[in-house]
Amino acid sequence: MKADELVAVTAQHVEKLFAGEGSGHDWWHIRRVWQNALKIGTLEKADLTLVQLGALLHDIADWKFHAGDEEAGPRAATEWLQAQQAPEDLIEQVCQIIREVSFKGAGVDTTPSTLEAKVVQDADRLDAIGAIGIGRAFAYGGYKGREMYSPDHVPLLHASFEEYKKNQGPTLNHFYEKLFLLKDRLNTPAGQQLAQERHAYMQQFVQQFLTEWHGEEQPPA
Ligand code: ADP
Ligand code: NI
Repeated sequence: MKADELVAVTAQHVEKLFAGEGSGHDWWHIRRVWQNALKIGTLEKADLTLVQLGALLHDIADWKFHAGDEEAGPRAATEWLQAQQAPEDLIEQVCQIIREVSFKGAGVDTTPSTLEAKVVQDADRLDAIGAIGIGRAFAYGGYKGREMYSPDHVPLLHASFEEYKKNQGPTLNHFYEKLFLLKDRLNTPAGQQLAQERHAYMQQFVQQFLTEWHGEEQPPA
């Protein structure tokens, strides 16, 4: 199978798997990440077959939905790509992207080892911030049965992936624990540029949210 064809059948496969998903990890998330990764990958002169397959398969079996199992994604991707007779070295490279893309806590360095993984990580992180990021955070929080906000729960900067995984805090904490940190952790100049406006919008949203909640009273630090 030619590379273009493999990308096309993978997109169809993922669209079928993710249609109607309700936690903010739906097909449209994957599609936006795919398209942004293609845009950034073109500017960065990355291998676009790898970038596209990595983007399309990056959430195929996310640890967040598989009891923290980080190998569930690479396993599902390998199964699919082997069934398409993709070459083993390509499969291994796609799996490496999937392993490196995820955020693992404020104190954990998740800088990817290849240009292609850096591009996919940037595209995924752009979709976690801005207006879409706000929508996705509350969709995920609702899906997990979390409170929107509670003045009794202060945000924590997680030092390890284990701590980050255990987190059950309200959705507004997630802005401090992850979303506000992303702007300074993007890998590519194009990603960094695209993040500016989204970051500012999200800050304004949280400020307005807290003003409506607390009135003139200061929110807890
Ligand atoms: P990552 O691989 O970095 O985890 P994903 O594409 O899987 O990125 O999406 C993560 C998104 O899921 C976040 O940007 C956010 O919208 C949502 N999310 C994850 N954890 C939480 C949380 N504790 N509270 C609210 N939203 C969350
Ligand atoms: Ni994603």
